[in-house]
Amino acid sequence: TLIPVILAGGKGERFWPLSRRSRPKQFLCLDGGDRSLLQATADRLLATSSGWENLWVVTAAHLESGMQAQLPELPDANLLVEPEGRDTAPALAWSTLEVAKRYGEDAVLGFFPADHWIADLDIFQATLAAAAEMAVKDDVIVTLGIAPAYASTGYGYIEQGDALGEYGEGYPAYKVSRFTEKPDRQTAEEFIQSGRFSWNGGMFVFKASTVLQELEKHAPEILNPLKEKGIAAYGEVPKNSIDYALMEKTTKATVMPVKFGWDDLGDWGAIDRLRKSDAPNVELAQHVGLDTAGSLLYSTSDDDLIVTIGMEDTVIVRDGNVTLVVKKDRTQDIKQVLKTLREMP
Ligand code: GDD
Ligand code: MG
Repeated sequence: TLIPVILAGGKGERFWPLSRRSRPKQFLCLDGGDRSLLQATADRLLATSSGWENLWVVTAAHLESGMQAQLPELPDANLLVEPEGRDTAPALAWSTLEVAKRYGEDAVLGFFPADHWIADLDIFQATLAAAAEMAVKDDVIVTLGIAPAYASTGYGYIEQGDALGEYGEGYPAYKVSRFTEKPDRQTAEEFIQSGRFSWNGGMFVFKASTVLQELEKHAPEILNPLKEKGIAAYGEVPKNSIDYALMEKTTKATVMPVKFGWDDLGDWGAIDRLRKSDAPNVELAQHVGLDTAGSLLYSTSDDDLIVTIGMEDTVIVRDGNVTLVVKKDRTQDIKQVLKTLREMP
């Protein structure tokens, strides 16, 4: 069976002002349901694995009590708390060590971001079963490849190599011949035009022993201190994401093309995409609009009234005394503004 670990220590700054330091985006209900992104991720994985006793979450200290409130059924021992977030490479390395302590190094782990939307649960489960089968049989790190929709610079890109056969209920897999994390715009465009690349879905399935060996080889500066001193070593471990620290370097990666319908709820633009498909029901303010098109209006209070005239492709978000107004194609830049805000006296 697959032991799922949810990576839930990120900030999700691009959902500001709804996301704040103590209320990161994984705690928000953005996909139209009444479960937060984190809870929805746990629900999906529980349907896949064998109950709360085998579900793990890794997060940062300032989110610990929030996690307990969001997932009260999660056993304390399965909540791994980093003193501070140091990105996903240390989080994945440390949690793999901890999970291996309980289940042994032959255990198959699956790492899952807490900020994804997945359309078809049955296909999701069948894909994970196929990925777990491959991880055991071939001693590889299985990535899930998403058919790319545009030349995004916010994802990892996976070049598909030789075919490696089919797994599970007929899921084909391929060798990864190149993994490039967050390329610049021009490179992303070349990748898309070549037709050989998929987006990295950010989910990884592997045997603990496979990843520990690969980290030893490619990222000893991260693995070794954690192996020797456990969480006490966290402060001295370099900050890096697993994509740069391991996936760009390992020769043991494979890719399984995904058919379950996927979106990364990375910024306000994603909410807009989902609303157009089949998950409407984001909390809208009362709105009176004249000649307003293609815009997303979001407010945390039903009492808010937003009036727009002659607006196009605009996102307006109200939370308490903060209002954000941004052009739809600039929502990625919220991070930049937050930097300025933090520098304000
Ligand atoms: N515990 C912990 N600690 N979790 C973290 C930390 C940390 O320091 N930093 C980030 N996370 C969590 C986030 O909460 C999120 O659920 C997940 O790890 C991925 O981090 P992101 O910061 O959202 O990564 P990304 O979206 O830029 O890129 C990754 O995902 C893309 C697909 O959504 C990469 O794997 C890309 O290659 C991939 O395309
Ligand atoms: Mg993300």
